[in-house]
Amino acid sequence: MELMSFSAIIRNLCFCVLLFSGTCFCGPPLVGKIPPGFQASQMEWVDQSGRFLLSNNSTFSLGFYTGVDVATFVLNIIHIDSAQAIWTANRRQLVGSSDKFVFEENGNVYLKKGNDNAWSTYTAGEKVTAMELLDSGNLVLLGENDTILWQSFSSPTDTLVSGQEFTEGMSLKSFPNTNNMSAYLNISLGDLILSAGYRTPQVYWSMKGDSRRTNFSNSNGNVHSVVLGLNSWNFYDQNKTLLWQFVFSGNSDPSALWAAILGPNGMITFVNLQKGKSRTAEATRIPENSCSVPEYCKPYEICYFESWCQCPPALNGNCGPQPLSSCSSSYRSVHFAYIAEKLDYFALGFVTPSLKSNVNACIEACRSNCSCNVLLFNSSSGHCFLFDQIGNFERSDPSLNGYVSYMKVSNISGANGSKNIKKEAIVIAVIIFATVVVIAGLAYIGFWYHQKKKSLPDYSEETLEEDNFLDSLSGMPIRFSYGDLSRATKNFSSKIGQGGFGSVYVGVLADGTHLAVKKLEGIGQGKKEFRAEVSIIGSIHHVHLVKLKGFCAEGPHRLLVYEFMGKGSLDKWISKKCEASKILDWNTRFDIALGTAKGLAYLHEECEVKIVHCDIKPENVLLDDNFAAKVSDFGLAKLMSREESLVYTTLRGTRGYLAPEWITNNPISEKSDVYSYGMVLLEIIGGRKNYDPAESPEKAHFPSYAFKMLEEGKPQEILDSRLEFDENDERIVDAIKVSLWCIQDEMHLRPPMTKVVQMLEGLCAIPHPPISSQFGSQASLSFYKWSSEDGTSTRPTNWSSDAFQSEIQLSGPR
Ligand SMILES: *[C@@H]1O[C@H](CO)[C@@H](O)[C@H](O)[C@H]1NC(C)=O
Ligand SMILES: *[C@@H]1O[C@H](CO)[C@@H](O)[C@H](O)[C@H]1NC(C)=O
Ligand SMILES: *[C@@H]1O[C@H](CO)[C@@H](O)[C@H](O)[C@H]1NC(C)=O
Ligand SMILES: *[C@@H]1O[C@H](CO)[C@@H](O)[C@H](O)[C@H]1NC(C)=O
Ligand SMILES: *[C@@H]1O[C@H](CO)[C@@H](O)[C@H](O)[C@H]1NC(C)=O
Ligand SMILES: *[C@@H]1O[C@H](CO)[C@@H](O)[C@H](O)[C@H]1NC(C)=O
Ligand SMILES: *[C@@H]1O[C@H](CO)[C@@H](O)[C@H](O)[C@H]1NC(C)=O
Ligand SMILES: *[C@@H]1O[C@H](CO)[C@@H](O)[C@H](O)[C@H]1NC(C)=O
Ligand SMILES: *[C@@H]1O[C@H](CO)[C@@H](O)[C@H](O)[C@H]1NC(C)=O
Ligand SMILES: *[C@@H]1O[C@H](CO)[C@@H](O)[C@H](O)[C@H]1NC(C)=O
Ligand SMILES: *[C@@H]1O[C@H](CO)[C@@H](O)[C@H](O)[C@H]1NC(C)=O
Repeated sequence: MELMSFSAIIRNLCFCVLLFSGTCFCGPPLVGKIPPGFQASQMEWVDQSGRFLLSNNSTFSLGFYTGVDVATFVLNIIHIDSAQAIWTANRRQLVGSSDKFVFEENGNVYLKKGNDNAWSTYTAGEKVTAMELLDSGNLVLLGENDTILWQSFSSPTDTLVSGQEFTEGMSLKSFPNTNNMSAYLNISLGDLILSAGYRTPQVYWSMKGDSRRTNFSNSNGNVHSVVLGLNSWNFYDQNKTLLWQFVFSGNSDPSALWAAILGPNGMITFVNLQKGKSRTAEATRIPENSCSVPEYCKPYEICYFESWCQCPPALNGNCGPQPLSSCSSSYRSVHFAYIAEKLDYFALGFVTPSLKSNVNACIEACRSNCSCNVLLFNSSSGHCFLFDQIGNFERSDPSLNGYVSYMKVSNISGANGSKNIKKEAIVIAVIIFATVVVIAGLAYIGFWYHQKKKSLPDYSEETLEEDNFLDSLSGMPIRFSYGDLSRATKNFSSKIGQGGFGSVYVGVLADGTHLAVKKLEGIGQGKKEFRAEVSIIGSIHHVHLVKLKGFCAEGPHRLLVYEFMGKGSLDKWISKKCEASKILDWNTRFDIALGTAKGLAYLHEECEVKIVHCDIKPENVLLDDNFAAKVSDFGLAKLMSREESLVYTTLRGTRGYLAPEWITNNPISEKSDVYSYGMVLLEIIGGRKNYDPAESPEKAHFPSYAFKMLEEGKPQEILDSRLEFDENDERIVDAIKVSLWCIQDEMHLRPPMTKVVQMLEGLCAIPHPPISSQFGSQASLSFYKWSSEDGTSTRPTNWSSDAFQSEIQLSGPR
């Protein structure tokens, strides 16, 4: 009854007035439900940007959106604030502006394309009473008694949102990449897997194999459903028992609306769509390493250092998709071309070898197997793997021999064919080059325009009433009054630390949460600037960065409220003086070093605004109850001028960690942080201060001593003598080498933090560090030692090309 009158109103309201132009008006979008009998096309709703249905509280909309060009459209559910599409009806078959979305009286819903259907719910004959777009983003068809007959959550496209359940039988399919390859997410054999959509699918990641997950009670059970929760992905069995959890964010704000998106590159990223949030993806990605996706690089290229691609020299630049063998070539006309050795391939962890023998048998197996085009062979185990199609290779772990690979080639139409191909290739290259130039030009103009536009709202925001400014942004740090913090810290009675920017006190809130309250000293900034900085710091979340929970700006007081870190700062755990029971073992130390490097790498290269920390030292590396390292005090350098920071850091006795450019007046950049990090890493390894006059004269200046010992081949002399260690643990020498690379006086020789992380993780070989110029220069000589053993073009100059920025800001976007 209610629905009948509702639909009548709609029809009256939606009397389409056809104008001469052919457009028409339909009033505002409908809210909540649509009754059977409803129809809509893009043209009719063009005034509403194609939107014809909003969810009850207008968080999501259903409508037509532009597809690949202005004349083709997709039917989408969009999260309005972030403009993120979370579901698409007709990804494969786009429709025109007059093609209709139809909700038939018989219950069926479809999208017409000419005389065909581009999409349908196939619910004809079911007693459908209404279609509703829920505030969760789910589009449902309701039957009698509001039962759900069909829902968009059950046929997701490439995105999952908070609360959405992904169960066995469903799949996400990424938008095809330039090579027409899609990645798939499925639940298979009780595990969540990602696979490359090749002719024979190739699995490249599984949750069971991901060490980042947390196990729960029955962690051996079979996954049946997966739900995106507050800040984690939760895995359940058939009985809804929680098996595993995958935490992807440090931000567990209950109002966050997360989207897990399977991108065209095969990587799952997690984005918070919450209002007022900039739409940056979390640092946590699946899989962890970008070289472990099928086509980060072109097929046959070797991916290494997480971002570099190289075509194996044997292929003469002929990387990229290769024609699949059609099996018509005769047995004899086939031969095998060597691709490269020391390789690894993402699918090898998920397939069983075709046979176990020698390399010739492996080649013969591929020759006689019609569908085989590429083989990978492990000469130590004799395992032979055959593939019909292949994505990019990875460089193998330097400690292993890796795989050797051959590809099938047919040389029937030898010279002629390849000449034509060469001609074509040149023409294509010229076209691609021209296109790239044009696109780059357009992008530059677009970017310039965007920047200009962006500066406007920023201005108006600053004129807002300052007290309301931050409060209006959700998810931002909480504003505390000075009284609150006085009470929480018992009038600042228990001081737990003294940093470059002020003293830190422990506080307890009424609900029992512990806080670390930092009273900033010498901050000459006004309230407004302070708050703007706080909002930037507060928006940065990473597992290896201390989280800013709140702040206070009242009268002359400037305070920051951080999460409390149970084990305090690193300096208390590595000094010579600390008690035997407090000495950290090597594994813990290494994890702390790696965690710190990851936190810094995030600040430098992954978060939205590049932040140079400027005060890296053991006091600013905090440890939580499990000794996980988190960097604190980032973003604060921006609150001071260079001179002020220098005075402060010098006064506080942290000179030992400052890069030479602080004194020589050269520009400060993220490479200055790398230097300080190297100094901290050396102290972690040595368990002592870098300058300690109490040591023998030879050892007093630890960095010089470390360089000397490494030169003399006695790295164990550098290691803290109180540590028990395994002689074969390569991480020890690696860490020493990394620290000595970081503390090079020459800024451009220091590696960026992302490379530091990779070197520590053993993902790339670490060349011998040059003797720093500070200690009797040979730097320019050693420089050339750095062409690496495996013939790739790794030279330290590559590190610096993008890193040396003379105009760099200390932090923040302005
Ligand atoms: C829709 O929102 C209104 C208030 O905005 C609320 O009263 C009503 O209960 C909501 N309806 C549903 C179905 O959530
Ligand atoms: C809309 O409803 C959803 C689900 O009830 C809720 O999470 C969201 O905060 C609401 N949004 C607004 C703007 O009220
Ligand atoms: C709907 O509810 C009524 C009353 O509870 C019940 O008699 C009827 O069978 C239900 N219909 C369906 C389709 O479940
Ligand atoms: C892409 O692949 C699909 C099937 O996976 C095929 O139908 C389509 O023709 C391909 N497109 C191109 C441009 O190769
Ligand atoms: C994943 O699901 C898609 C669609 O259902 C299917 O085509 C594909 O074969 C599945 N892949 C695996 C590895 O199960
Ligand atoms: C989880 O359990 C599996 C075996 O069920 C084990 O191999 C894995 O190491 C455990 N992971 C963690 C993080 O504890
Ligand atoms: C689910 O629960 C039932 C009854 O408690 C039990 O028999 C069954 O083994 C459980 N299944 C799983 C997968 O735990
Ligand atoms: C033939 O090659 C395919 C890969 O192209 C492989 O999956 C299959 O196992 C091979 N068959 C035999 C009998 O080795
Ligand atoms: C090759 O096989 C050996 C022996 O089984 C194994 O130890 C090694 O890890 C394999 N190599 C690679 C790169 O997986
Ligand atoms: C194909 O190449 C192989 C190796 O280069 C050579 O031995 C063979 O004679 C060639 N076959 C033809 C038909 O050219
Ligand atoms: C190669 O080119 C020559 C001259 O252009 C031609 O005579 C010959 O038939 C071609 N061979 C093949 C296999 O196409």
